[in-house]
Amino acid sequence: MIELRAPLPSDVEALHPLVAGTGVADTLLWDGPASLDEYRRTWLIFVEEVARGGRQTFTIVETATGAVIGTAGLRPVAGSDAAPWFRADIGLFIGIPYQGRGYGTAAVRQLLDVGFGKLGLEKIEAAVFVGNVASRRIFEKNGFVLEGTIRKAVRKRGRLVDEWLLGIVREERVSA
Ligand SMILES: CC(C)(COP(=O)(O)OP(=O)(O)OC[C@H]1O[C@@H](n2cnc3c(N)ncnc32)[C@H](O)[C@@H]1OP(=O)(O)O)[C@@H](O)C(=O)NCCC(=O)NCCS
Repeated sequence: MIELRAPLPSDVEALHPLVAGTGVADTLLWDGPASLDEYRRTWLIFVEEVARGGRQTFTIVETATGAVIGTAGLRPVAGSDAAPWFRADIGLFIGIPYQGRGYGTAAVRQLLDVGFGKLGLEKIEAAVFVGNVASRRIFEKNGFVLEGTIRKAVRKRGRLVDEWLLGIVREERVSA
């Protein structure tokens, strides 16, 4: 299986080949790193944000091999970011060689444990490009419900994209 652990600056060396030029970013708002150096700088910001109690980014590690296979994180939704934040959205990716093994589902489950546990959040959301069925599935398998479709939600590589908004509130997690 997998575990989420605190991000280390050196993780970016393993993450870069999983995302750069692989198509993993096709269904992310982020277009992927422009270069390894740019990714190093961005990743360092994420590492520092964790320490400051802001956006919580984790490195996903395959337990059996210790391989770094992706990242997952919780970010306060605008308007709920005054501490303590109560509402967050999830972003994650799993490198293509590691997809389809239940790791994405497990990563979301572990993020819910952190979010509703240690962070004390009230609500966790995910915005998924319409048509990204694998992503919608990993959230629904973890108890998220479809709250609606946001039309023309974001611009991705010059094209306006609709998003499914999925969410789960604390009470649903407790009774799950
Ligand atoms: C979305 C993502 C994290 C899923 O990770 P994963 O480790 O492959 O997910 P899992 O193996 O836990 O589960 C995938 C589920 O989607 C299903 N699935 C995958 N592709 C599918 C498709 N084209 N149509 C229908 N179902 C599909 C799988 O069958 C599985 O469901 P099941 O367990 O009920 O069979 C991964 O594909 C990814 O990183 N994609 C690129 C980045 C991205 O889109 N991130 C999410 C942004 S919101």
